[in-house]
Amino acid sequence: MRILSGIQTTGNLHLGNYLGAIKQWVAMQDQGECLFFLADLHSLTGSISPAERTATTLEMAATLLASGIDDRSVLFNQARVPEHSELCWILQGTARMGWLNRMTQWKDKAGKNRDGAPVGLFTYPVLQAADILVYQATHVPVGEDQKQHLELTRDIAEKFNTDFGVDLFPLPEPLISKAAPRIMSLRDGTAKMSKSDPSDMSRVNLIDPDDVIAQKFKKARTDPDPLPDSFDALAERAEARNLVTIYAALADMSPQAVLEQFAGQGFGAFKPALADLAIAKLGPIRDRLVRLLDDKAAVGQALADGAVRARALAAPTLRKAQEAVGLQV
Ligand code: TYM
Repeated sequence: MRILSGIQTTGNLHLGNYLGAIKQWVAMQDQGECLFFLADLHSLTGSISPAERTATTLEMAATLLASGIDDRSVLFNQARVPEHSELCWILQGTARMGWLNRMTQWKDKAGKNRDGAPVGLFTYPVLQAADILVYQATHVPVGEDQKQHLELTRDIAEKFNTDFGVDLFPLPEPLISKAAPRIMSLRDGTAKMSKSDPSDMSRVNLIDPDDVIAQKFKKARTDPDPLPDSFDALAERAEARNLVTIYAALADMSPQAVLEQFAGQGFGAFKPALADLAIAKLGPIRDRLVRLLDDKAAVGQALADGAVRARALAAPTLRKAQEAVGLQV
């Protein structure tokens, strides 16, 4: 079992990233060989400045270390491992325009102005496929929003193997957290919690101080009704459903068990309990993060060491892909 996952370097990590992905990454370190990386090349398709990109890469690496990613895993930034980009170019001969045109992330991010969108936004999932396939990864822990990109990766792997008559790329399995596949914005229960939401009140950042966490849950949008005794009864109450999901994922409980505890109570009681729980779980991560941010050189060194380990694993696969397509290198 070789586990791999990545995260775009576009800003602070938030509760959605933590519950949808990172919490699983930390837990998986005992289950197989793990590689985790900062997708700094993918961030070139967004709008952050060069200085922000540099700073964010180190800050996010520090956040992963603070969350519990340790030496059992290979932690690195994508730009330091050129094998990703080289395999990406080879796979661009395999991926099909029609496949990429169907990607909902492309459609959402490009919006109506497709002609003005960067080409990299369109080919983004091919680089993601290369990230995974260059390590012959078998399992990829992600949130539900990345499921489609994983299906595309499997299509690319299968077509490459067939077209070139090789058995090079295993078809990777997405591992989607059952507890928190999709954490929604605190301001709008129909939009996912996201770094790109202009309102900071829509998300809990892993760097937020305790009082800010408490304030964000206090101000979170809800409805006036008390909590029911069954999770199914929350189907039409997106904001309430989201807060119960967050509580359950943080407490390692089922949403149903949370409702059995809080049934009949209103948000006046539930929100402070949720804020206390979030502070208890996220506070220690934030405290470790603050300490690591004081020693950025050590974080930079951890990334450099990780890249050496990653390249040793990626190079032989790239070589086999180059041979399969007949490149002389
Ligand atoms: P990114 O940076 O958008 O998100 C990182 C991880 O966090 C999950 N996530 C969420 N989960 C639940 N609720 C949310 N609101 C939420 N927001 C984000 C995402 O599903 C993801 O698992 N394309 C990837 C980065 C990437 C990658 C890869 C992942 C590049 N190459 C190879 C896996 C394998 C992305 O944009 O993640």
